[in-house]
Amino acid sequence: MIKDNPFVFGRAAEGTYFTDRIEDAKRLSANLTHGINTILISPRRWGKTSLVKKVINETDRPDIKFVFIDIFDCKSEYDFYHSFANEIVKQTSSKIEEWVETAKTFLSNISPKFSFGTDPMNDFSLSFEWNPKDNTEKEILQLPQKIAQKKKLRLIVCLDEFQQIADFFDSITFQKKLRSVWQHQQEVTYCMFGSKKHLMENIFNERSMPFYKFGDMMFLKKIPTEEWVPFVCDKFQETGKTISEEQVAKICELTENLSSYVQHLAWIVWYKSDKVVRNKDIDNAVNDLLEQNNVFFQREVEQLSEFQLNFLKALANGVSSGFSRKDIIKKYRLESSANVQSVKKSLLKKGIIDIDEQTVTFDDSIFKLWMQRQRR
Ligand SMILES: Nc1ncnc2c1ncn2[C@@H]1O[C@H](COP(=O)(O)OP(=O)(O)OP(=O)(O)O)[C@@H](O)[C@H]1O
Ligand SMILES: [Mg+2]
Repeated sequence: MIKDNPFVFGRAAEGTYFTDRIEDAKRLSANLTHGINTILISPRRWGKTSLVKKVINETDRPDIKFVFIDIFDCKSEYDFYHSFANEIVKQTSSKIEEWVETAKTFLSNISPKFSFGTDPMNDFSLSFEWNPKDNTEKEILQLPQKIAQKKKLRLIVCLDEFQQIADFFDSITFQKKLRSVWQHQQEVTYCMFGSKKHLMENIFNERSMPFYKFGDMMFLKKIPTEEWVPFVCDKFQETGKTISEEQVAKICELTENLSSYVQHLAWIVWYKSDKVVRNKDIDNAVNDLLEQNNVFFQREVEQLSEFQLNFLKALANGVSSGFSRKDIIKKYRLESSANVQSVKKSLLKKGIIDIDEQTVTFDDSIFKLWMQRQRR
């Protein structure tokens, strides 16, 4: 019997918290262990990080080593090089002496300095003199290949939140530098993943961009209701509670199968219910979830222009394409077709909507529900 929370959200789902994605895991694992660079894309909180971690945890090959780097906090090229060097050195060595040795051997030109905290195994950081003339950047980008060769290993470097690099100053020049070094690395495979489809697609799908056709592009889909139903039912059962299949389907419907919200809502239903879940428990749980997000959504809305808000009202009302039609423009006061285009663009940039072909959707299904209920 599980004593812990039967559900997880807000961090990667691992082990028994992970469900489905069998085909995705197979493809990603086959790609990475056979040297195929892979780009993994989905909207936020669908399960990219969880999937990559699953593949890392399940790959049992002594000749392969994974390095996982989250670049979410990197705001500049310099931050990127810094994290990259640190994580590559740290995650390919098991002892402190080895770190120091690796860094000294392969980053000799840039005189690395070390600092250790109270827990040297985890609290370790590398810094270096920054001198572009000395080829600092190249030396850092070559690090994985050199380490792989020396240790006779294949390295798989996973870069989470990769869309971040699009915001760096002079990003295209930076991307060119990365590609020009990485494309020659025989022993290193890259897995780049991130949200903001339009940014990721711009990096990897535009003919004029340095990373064009750098690897296999995988677009993650939502976990379907048929997969969530047994998963959620079992979690309740294991903890001595009962939820019906219809009730789980209702949770999926309300959250539009957005992975993180399915788990979050299931958790609220779970802790609120007695032994047997009543439909009322689900209604209450949704209200709780909306309530928890209220301040956040309110703030989001306050930062929108009137046209942006009108657009979202139309979207919440069921319009998903054809926003430039005369009747839609008139009904939702969107002014003009040109205005619709610019509103779409700005909402996409803010990460509030996603656009697939011509269809527009809310990035956040609970925000959509909140908008719908506001209007009543
Ligand atoms: N395969 C899965 N099985 C069960 N739950 C999952 C799965 N994948 C994701 N989740 C749920 O979704 C949440 C978010 O997952 P994860 O952090 O992997 O998504 P992400 O796409 O990397 O998000 P972000 O874009 O914010 O980085 C998890 O905490 C978990 O609740
Ligand atoms: Mg993630």
